[in-house]
Amino acid sequence: LVHPDVEQMLCEFKLHEEDLQVLMERIQAEMERGLHLETNEEASVKMLPTYVRSTPDGSEVGDFLALDLGGTNFRVMLVKVGEDLDGQWRVETKHKMYSIPEDAMTGTAEMLFDYIAECISDYLDQQNMKHKKLPLGFTFSFPVRHEDIDKGILLNWTKGFKASGAEGNNVVGLLRDAIKRRGDFEMDVVAMVNDTVATMISCYYEDHRCEVGMIVGTGCNACYMEEMCNVELVEGEEGRMCVNTEWGAFGDTGELEDFRLEYDRVVDEGSLNPGQQLYEKMIGGKYMGELVRLVLIKMVNENLAFGGEASEKLKTRGSFETQFVSQIEGDSSDFKQTCNILKTLNLQSTLGDCHAVRLACESVSTRAAAMCGAGLAGVLNRMHKNRGDDILKITVGVDGSVYKLHPFFKERFHATVRKLTPRCDITFITSEEGSGRGAALISAVAYKMACLIG
Ligand code: BG6
Ligand code: GLC
Repeated sequence: LVHPDVEQMLCEFKLHEEDLQVLMERIQAEMERGLHLETNEEASVKMLPTYVRSTPDGSEVGDFLALDLGGTNFRVMLVKVGEDLDGQWRVETKHKMYSIPEDAMTGTAEMLFDYIAECISDYLDQQNMKHKKLPLGFTFSFPVRHEDIDKGILLNWTKGFKASGAEGNNVVGLLRDAIKRRGDFEMDVVAMVNDTVATMISCYYEDHRCEVGMIVGTGCNACYMEEMCNVELVEGEEGRMCVNTEWGAFGDTGELEDFRLEYDRVVDEGSLNPGQQLYEKMIGGKYMGELVRLVLIKMVNENLAFGGEASEKLKTRGSFETQFVSQIEGDSSDFKQTCNILKTLNLQSTLGDCHAVRLACESVSTRAAAMCGAGLAGVLNRMHKNRGDDILKITVGVDGSVYKLHPFFKERFHATVRKLTPRCDITFITSEEGSGRGAALISAVAYKMACLIG
């Protein structure tokens, strides 16, 4: 039911097993370069040490405040960390969601962090906790070069954030300054973590084999436990440290040029960070809908859909939301939802158009799942080699709207990963409230250490 010319046009999104193997090997090579001191600067995959180590020696119990900035929503939450009578960890959360206004995202760092402090203040009022100086864990989902668990500079913004005056500065310092400027509450910022790390840690408490965290949401990234002896950027050889790969930047030094299509180039050129995060732009939810829109425009231009005419809405950047991709692929065979979505874009569709639109969505999201799968396979095969076991038994903690909400992403992604990792026995678990719980748990460990030292 799909016109052969449409199929022909979408063919270039297909990745064969050999392609995926090539991608996996290239990403592994970048990971290796990122880990070495002398090649880290030029590597696209930055492999950032997180100062989260494999040997936590106990943690504090009590109330923690957690912030979660960098996904679809900004959240403030109260997390109670404690132990049950039977010695099981108990982590309870109460969160409130705030939307970040566009001008705070793209204004100055001061504006952004003042807004964050304002949200914390509002939350504390609501919880009647203004008077308490709580330890705070900050999930900050951007590339940070850490000096310690509570100190690190923002390398560059990603995913549509662009607040000036933040890049190159200590993020925890920016937060502390904003809290000080307000002066109506106090906080003890004890840890800053990436969302992949928070996700991994929150899943670790359920399953001690969880040594990898991954996000496929607005952006795409992964972290994993690397042998300390391979983490050249941090002194010491014992144990393991969690490394935030920041693999979203894979391709930024040319490694994806033979995979990127014209649509990928247009998405990149129209973004706030052209030339950066090229792998992420082929996978993440911030870009998926836009890729499909560009494909549809091309179909119209080739007279393969909508009678050769695009509506003004379809011609508008960002009008095709990523959630449409999920809704269209999940639609029943009567295409009721699809027709409705297309109507909101002022497009009258025939049955043939609906089939073509669905194939466009499938092509983009299937490629995303496969590319992302090659990345994770690269990480897991590296861990397998590091550990030297015959079979690596491992759990991967995952979060993010694309992974959780797309009807088929997960299955396609798992299939790719498993095909490329014959010597790994992998369990995937999704994290609920991962960032809040993870940030609080890491803070609980950091706080205990700080108390011991302080
Ligand atoms: C959330 C986590 O559930 O998933 C965030 O709490 C994370 O920390 C987010 O950034 C990623 O998904 P999305 O789709 O919101 O970007
Ligand atoms: C972007 C960020 C990264 C984050 C990911 C998922 O890639 O740079 O830090 O983990 O998005 O939110």
